[in-house]
Amino acid sequence: MQRKKIHMLILAGGLLGGLAFSTLSQAADPPAAAPAASAADAEKAAKEAAIKAAIAAPPADAAMLANTCAGCHGTNGVSGGPAMPSIAGMPAPYLKTIMADFKSGKRPSTIMGRIAKGYTEEETALISDFLSKTKWVAVTSHPNSQMATKVDAAKAKKGKKLVSDQKCGKCHEDDGLTQDEDTPRMAGQWVDYLIIKMHDLSNKHLKIPQPEKMQKAIEKLTVQELEDIAHFYASQR
Ligand code: HEC
Ligand code: HEC
Repeated sequence: MQRKKIHMLILAGGLLGGLAFSTLSQAADPPAAAPAASAADAEKAAKEAAIKAAIAAPPADAAMLANTCAGCHGTNGVSGGPAMPSIAGMPAPYLKTIMADFKSGKRPSTIMGRIAKGYTEEETALISDFLSKTKWVAVTSHPNSQMATKVDAAKAKKGKKLVSDQKCGKCHEDDGLTQDEDTPRMAGQWVDYLIIKMHDLSNKHLKIPQPEKMQKAIEKLTVQELEDIAHFYASQR
């Protein structure tokens, strides 16, 4: 205890000594010290100006805002993870509706509700416009696609028949390639994500927004059939 105190005193003495020394040396050589101080001042002023400008700035530009989405949905909406949907090229009105539904809680979610709440309507519109101009890439050609469940040709074949029997193509035209104002593209989506989504959609208690006709059809499918359909859509380009 006693020794510690002494050490502290020596340390304090050293600091004070140092301060006194630097004050003395400044006093002894004022012209050299002056420009150094003003350069530091200028830097500080520039930093403050930048902070003020950032605070006063109008909504950040769309690409910057969409960067947050990239953290999970991949650069330009092309997802790098099998359970995370690709959202590239989705039509802006579809994105806006989805984000509004996540925000209001109408659309159940694990994370998106909280994320959507962080943006104003104008910011969501900017992000949606930006993402709608990005290009959809079939994730089966993504470098990370080996992480995903392999698209199984036999399952995809069964899925193709099911989709035809169930007339899913009435809305999901061209084997899921179509992307329009209210229908998402599914051709080339991650198979793991589609499997999860098909299971969720088949459970009407989750109340995921979807056309009644679709819900009625999916509800009757077996777990295996739901997965076959996921494999079919994922296998398309
Ligand atoms: C922390 C990770 C994360 C971030 C960041 C994130 N998302 Fe999501 N997103 C998810 C998850 C997970 C889902 C699936 C729904 C859920 O469980 O929340 C999802 C679902 C979606 C969907 C629905 C896709 C579909 O096919 O149904 C859209 C659209 C979407 N996100 C848009 C965005 C936009 C726009 C941003 C940026 C403002 C964003 N997300 C940021 C994780 C994220
Ligand atoms: C009446 C038109 C219609 C029919 C028929 C239909 N769908 Fe859909 N489907 C939609 C719409 C609209 C959405 C988007 C719902 C939303 O998220 O708001 C959707 C979404 C989906 C999704 C979610 C995709 C994603 O990325 O989130 C899957 C999977 C899906 N449909 C599969 C099917 C299957 C399988 C069938 C046939 C059994 C089918 N649909 C029949 C209109 C339809």
